[in-house]
Amino acid sequence: MDAKAGVYKVADLKLAREGERLIEWAESRMPVLDALRVKYKKTKPLKGYRIAGCLHVTKETAVLVKAFVDAGARVSWSGCNPLSTNDAVAAALAKSGVSIFAWHGMNVKEFYWCIEQTLKMHPNLTLDDGADLIFTIHNDHPEFAQKYVIGGTEETTTGVHRLRAMAAAGKLNYPVIAVNDAETKWDFDNVYGTGQSTLDGILRSTSVLLAGKNVVVAGYGHCGKGVASRAKGLGSNVIVTEIKPTAALKATLEGHRVMKMDEAAKVGDVFITATGVRDVITARHFESMKDGAIVCNTGHYDCEINIDDLERMAKSKRTIRKDNEEYLLRGGRRIYVLAKGRLVNLAAAEGHPSEVMDMSFANQFMSQLRLAELDKKGKRLANTVHDIPPEQDQEIARVKLSTMKIKVDRLSKEQKRYITDYSSGT
Ligand code: ADE
Repeated sequence: MDAKAGVYKVADLKLAREGERLIEWAESRMPVLDALRVKYKKTKPLKGYRIAGCLHVTKETAVLVKAFVDAGARVSWSGCNPLSTNDAVAAALAKSGVSIFAWHGMNVKEFYWCIEQTLKMHPNLTLDDGADLIFTIHNDHPEFAQKYVIGGTEETTTGVHRLRAMAAAGKLNYPVIAVNDAETKWDFDNVYGTGQSTLDGILRSTSVLLAGKNVVVAGYGHCGKGVASRAKGLGSNVIVTEIKPTAALKATLEGHRVMKMDEAAKVGDVFITATGVRDVITARHFESMKDGAIVCNTGHYDCEINIDDLERMAKSKRTIRKDNEEYLLRGGRRIYVLAKGRLVNLAAAEGHPSEVMDMSFANQFMSQLRLAELDKKGKRLANTVHDIPPEQDQEIARVKLSTMKIKVDRLSKEQKRYITDYSSGT
């Protein structure tokens, strides 16, 4: 073990130099988070706080972890998906002294073992992407909520949905800030981040031409919307499947065809699930797919495509290229599954670009800081899911714009008066 390193388990510490260069690259594209890091490095407002994180180990996440460390926190980390860890980044973090338990390709048992290791430092703050860390604390260490944890943050839509359900049932034992619901998170990360990184994952694992292909996007939430718009930009004929009337209508007016998955299955060339729901593509859809259809998922969990169904239907299976498995069905049709049905953008590519993660992680940093600052004043948020303050969104957007050298107008006094005046009409 390296002299400076904390307790860790990563694939190969020798990859640390490569990881450091990747982190440096991300850092140079994350000016908002970096400004926070520089600002709080002096005052160390997180001194005495122990943050356990369970979030994809990427170069962008490493920039966030560095900001926490520079602000005085002790950090312990695991990845939130068995296939999303960048081993070089994990090695660099381990070498820098962070307690990290993450490697690419771990199994589910190892996944929970890693979370357990991060809990050994008895965190008082948690940071999740998908809420697995919070669930582990609630299920296996319920006393942590009383003894140590003052609050947590959640990064993703799926996690926030589940935590809101938990709070509604009165089962959430500490406050959680819904970072996902910040405008400077979902309106950028979920839309442009998922849009670009999902296509990046598909292209790295297939290198297919997307122009002229029927690309079926299941789910037209923020992520689906981003994927559909980027696929359309590359010349694909986008087909959207939905359950929500307003979302289906939006997709239609955006120029996409909307139909049921049963119909889409017959004509699609590439299928991308982005719903947050299980069994979106099952046996009956595989039955009607064309020979050569490509199937992948960009939702948080790997249950959107029923791979067990496909395994049962297949005569044989082989890896045709990295992150791309060919299932040969009886009758001779071939179906290609990318990244085993796990998040294709992180498992087969590098996740969202640094430029959007900059704002998501600035929100994470400020939310963790908010929980610590309240604690220092002897205060604590209620045990439910909280939105970020609207001023935080505007501040992050303002700083981001200034780093892009973009200036915006200001309301004059007369304009301010006009928009609040209800005394005059036409
Ligand atoms: N989620 C999606 N993209 C990500 C990234 N680059 N880093 C961490 N989490 C992510």
